[in-house]
Amino acid sequence: MLDYIATKTGTPWAQVYSVATFYALFNLEPQGRHTVCICRGTACHTRGSRNLLERLKLELGLRSDGEEGSADKLSLTTADRRFTVRTVACFGQCALAPVVEVNHSIFGHVNEQSLQREIEAIRHEGGK
Ligand code: FES
Repeated sequence: MLDYIATKTGTPWAQVYSVATFYALFNLEPQGRHTVCICRGTACHTRGSRNLLERLKLELGLRSDGEEGSADKLSLTTADRRFTVRTVACFGQCALAPVVEVNHSIFGHVNEQSLQREIEAIRHEGGK
């Protein structure tokens, strides 16, 4: 797709690539139907977001290489492409830490139980 856009618009490929990798809503890999984004900023980290991330990865059978608990950008998709789990540096909602976005809805003061309830609700949405 990047090649196609670069050719059709006469734009250097590197410029197309830089736009595609700058904006969070563009992805270079296929994404899941449902997205769960866990904030790994300082406020959320101190309120337990690392445990939320690890629990979610365990729940969905996702594995990642590298710094699992860091604030580095992470994007993992389940093999059935039902869920994509991402991290973000800060949602700007630090007073609600830890913050998790599920399918573009922001949830504050999330704990492992409430996150699991959200995941279970998605799983039971008519087999989607
Ligand atoms: S650090 Fe999580 S919302 Fe700011």
